[in-house]
Amino acid sequence: MSYLHAIYIRRICKSRSYLVDNLIRNFKSGQDRQESIMKIFNLPTNSNLRKKDFLYGVATASFQIEGSVESRLPCIWDTFCDTPGKIADASDGRIACDHINRWREDVAIMEELGVDAYRFSVSWPRVITKDGQLNHEGVAFYLELLDTLNEKQIKPFVTLYHWDLPQHLEDKGGWLNRTTAHQFQRYVELIVEAFGHRVYSYATFNEPYCSAFLGYEIGVHAPGKASKEYGRKAAHHILLAHGLAMNVLRKNSPDTMNGIVLNFTPCYSASSSEADKIATDLADQYINQWYIKPIMDKRYPDIIDMLPDSQKPDIHEGDLDIIGQPIDFLGVNFYTRLIYSAPTEKGEFYTEHEHLSPQTDIGWEICPEAFTDLLVRLNKLYTLPPIYITENGAAMADKLHNGQVEDLDRIAYYDAHLNALHDAVEQGVMVDGYFAWSFMDNFEWAEGYVKRFGLVYVDYENQQRTIKQSGFAYKTLLAERIAK
Ligand code: FCB
Repeated sequence: MSYLHAIYIRRICKSRSYLVDNLIRNFKSGQDRQESIMKIFNLPTNSNLRKKDFLYGVATASFQIEGSVESRLPCIWDTFCDTPGKIADASDGRIACDHINRWREDVAIMEELGVDAYRFSVSWPRVITKDGQLNHEGVAFYLELLDTLNEKQIKPFVTLYHWDLPQHLEDKGGWLNRTTAHQFQRYVELIVEAFGHRVYSYATFNEPYCSAFLGYEIGVHAPGKASKEYGRKAAHHILLAHGLAMNVLRKNSPDTMNGIVLNFTPCYSASSSEADKIATDLADQYINQWYIKPIMDKRYPDIIDMLPDSQKPDIHEGDLDIIGQPIDFLGVNFYTRLIYSAPTEKGEFYTEHEHLSPQTDIGWEICPEAFTDLLVRLNKLYTLPPIYITENGAAMADKLHNGQVEDLDRIAYYDAHLNALHDAVEQGVMVDGYFAWSFMDNFEWAEGYVKRFGLVYVDYENQQRTIKQSGFAYKTLLAERIAK
């Protein structure tokens, strides 16, 4: 821990300078004390986030960790990885973290961290055959995992779709094909019956924005389609699938907490000019509100009326009632913010700026204040159910050295964001839990294995797991919580 590091922390914790001032003071007053301070999170002692009934978990997703592709059907990410130039390190999900074979060890590490909950996703192509039947071998893996989690009193938060669409469905149009929504509903029906009473919470989808916009509108994620006409259509079918699945969950699984996970990248205006402010609002409607408004208010944001007809989704009568039915919880994923100004090109709504500094290793600006702003704003805009922060975390350039990873930068990121979350709770936002992304390093989509988000380091040469300093800090925070 260097003085420079402390200064860097000050930069990323602009709004929390009292905390960082302390830290720098301590640096001057003794290295040991300094070290110990940097290895824990500094939440106010009376914070709700320090109470036992605030749930803490870790999160992963099937394609990013499971490996063992030979025992499931191909999915769109297998195909995307096999397409040259799509993945930064030309890697794929064939082995990933070999979690299918090492899950017992992974659950034991979760137990050591003392987490209350584990959020993971089910691989649709592992559990459903091509003709739409249950694949019992695939299901057996999840049943054992669920039983073990329950035995260890780790609550299973199951995400039903974290981007790994079966390739045979993509071959028929994927999320551009309305039938896929009905196939998703059938998959959910079968899996809910198979999982029985083992699950604590179901999320229908993880981040529809990423599947629809990144996957079908700009093509940087699978299936790699890139057309403005596709993005909105895919989003609508995904939201419809969410609603159809909610029907099933509410009827067949009324005792689980059922909802959806959305990601938000709050939009800030580059200047106070009217043109920049309007562009920023349109960006927010297009990338954020598009995915939450239909669920909360049964309608798309006003920007829909500005789209050319060819780019509008095919909305059938009754769709928005299906999409907008009540959810038990809203999962919120937050990593960064973005800055916008008026468009420079015809036909565009906004210009998106490069990320400002400081940044994480993946190039995303570190801006914890945006996390507070986001939650407070959502709470004003909508009548929200309880919120769970289902993902938050940072890629850092970790080094495994003498069996340790001294990721003080990640600790600082978590510290600042937990404090930002505390601020939102103080301002009246109802947040019941928080999941760190990620439990362990894994396949970071188009970035491959180079970007590491884990609390646990994975050495991909030998699949050895090492708890990072951030993992120990998380463990300490969780262990030191107090009863109400
Ligand atoms: C989110 C994804 C998750 C992970 C993090 C870094 O958008 O849901 O799988 O890749 O970003």
